[in-house]
Amino acid sequence: MDIFETIGSLAKRRGFIYPGSDIYGGLAGTWDYGPLGVELKRNLKNEYWRSMVQLRDDVVGLDAAIIMNPKVWEASGHLESFSDPLVECKKCHHRFRADQVGQKCPDCGGEFTEPKTFNLMVETYLGVIEGEKLKTYLRGEITQGVHVNFKNVLDSTRVKLPFGVAQIGKAFRNEITPGGLTFRSREFEQMENQFYVKPELESSMQWMEYWKNERMKWYLSLGLRKENLHFKDHEQLAHYARAACDIEYNANGEWKEMEGIHHRGDWDVRRHQEYSKQDMTYFDEETKERYLPWIIETSGGVDRATLFFLMDAYREEETKPGETRVVLKLHPKLAPFKAAVFPLLQNKPELVALAQSIYKDLKQDWMIAWDARGNIGKRYRAQDEAGTPFCFTVDFDSLEKKDVTVRDRDTMEQTRVKITDLRDFLKKKLA
Ligand code: GAP
Repeated sequence: MDIFETIGSLAKRRGFIYPGSDIYGGLAGTWDYGPLGVELKRNLKNEYWRSMVQLRDDVVGLDAAIIMNPKVWEASGHLESFSDPLVECKKCHHRFRADQVGQKCPDCGGEFTEPKTFNLMVETYLGVIEGEKLKTYLRGEITQGVHVNFKNVLDSTRVKLPFGVAQIGKAFRNEITPGGLTFRSREFEQMENQFYVKPELESSMQWMEYWKNERMKWYLSLGLRKENLHFKDHEQLAHYARAACDIEYNANGEWKEMEGIHHRGDWDVRRHQEYSKQDMTYFDEETKERYLPWIIETSGGVDRATLFFLMDAYREEETKPGETRVVLKLHPKLAPFKAAVFPLLQNKPELVALAQSIYKDLKQDWMIAWDARGNIGKRYRAQDEAGTPFCFTVDFDSLEKKDVTVRDRDTMEQTRVKITDLRDFLKKKLA
């Protein structure tokens, strides 16, 4: 089975990702995150925020509106140039991105029309009076919400160049061919840092290198396998870019873009200055110069990263001849549940009571799963598939010795840990 199919089926069966509007036959390019998926995605975003904003002195956070004044998209160039080449099959009328297909329609072998440019911005209308509604757009990238606030951030904080503004949020694109699960969606989330630097070629390129390496280190620190990541320089540059490089993930032999690191020059601030007639310059107190800053952007897809973390963590392992287990070896920081608590037997009230007290205590600080059904082997398998790093089982010895069996997801080894030490145990594993 193709890796996208394997992950898609696990994701749906276990509640990571469902097709959007599933009971109505879905809606192409939209996805819903289930009980496990929402935790994984939230953990990923929290780790991003922690590393990008909380732990840094030179990056602040922002959360801008999705719907913006339509002038923003004129200024940013999206209305003019944010498009893909579209071809239509003359026979079955299916549409494709011209750069993704060959000479003939892959569905029926028909001839294509000449490529037309197709704008990716999603239109929407605001207002209550028919005929006077304002046509605007759902943002095609989260970036512009930051750049239009450049002056606000300067005036309301103590930031000094070089500094960044980070944001996580939804973006929308009318993709011609959504697909590959969440890989290419029409509604998706981005995590970005717009880093403003001095307008100098050499030092700005050094910042570009710096951010490439920082972002690569971040993915590695959360457990993505090194051999599945590489940098890929862009051959064709977007309308705003001076230099661009992607971090790509190897999805079973196919390298796929996960995050872009772009040198945007002063494109955004210059255009917003021109279109809004507001001064967007920065006054450098050291050199007494006034200039438009240049921008080094890191722009990652939350959904793509979530998908690739799932793929990378997915293993089918033979536990004994003829028996395999499916396990998600997610980094404990990303795992939806940090631990599961079980009473060995469901019908022994003293075991259930002790296990419940441990469960309720740990749950105050972490996402903890509870399972008392079926046999212990089945419960382990269920937690393996959910990526839960540890299972704590309360058995008869626990009543006397005040300890539990701790079973490790990756090694399947079992050790005994005192109940009073479980919090420290988890803290250490999650550090
Ligand atoms: N602000 C720059 C920007 O938006 P981009 O390369 O178009 O650059 C950045 O997008 C990241 O957003 C991509 O690397 C990808 O992870 C994610 N992304 C873009 N389009 C997407 C889509 N249709 N579905 C899911 N993720 C997408």
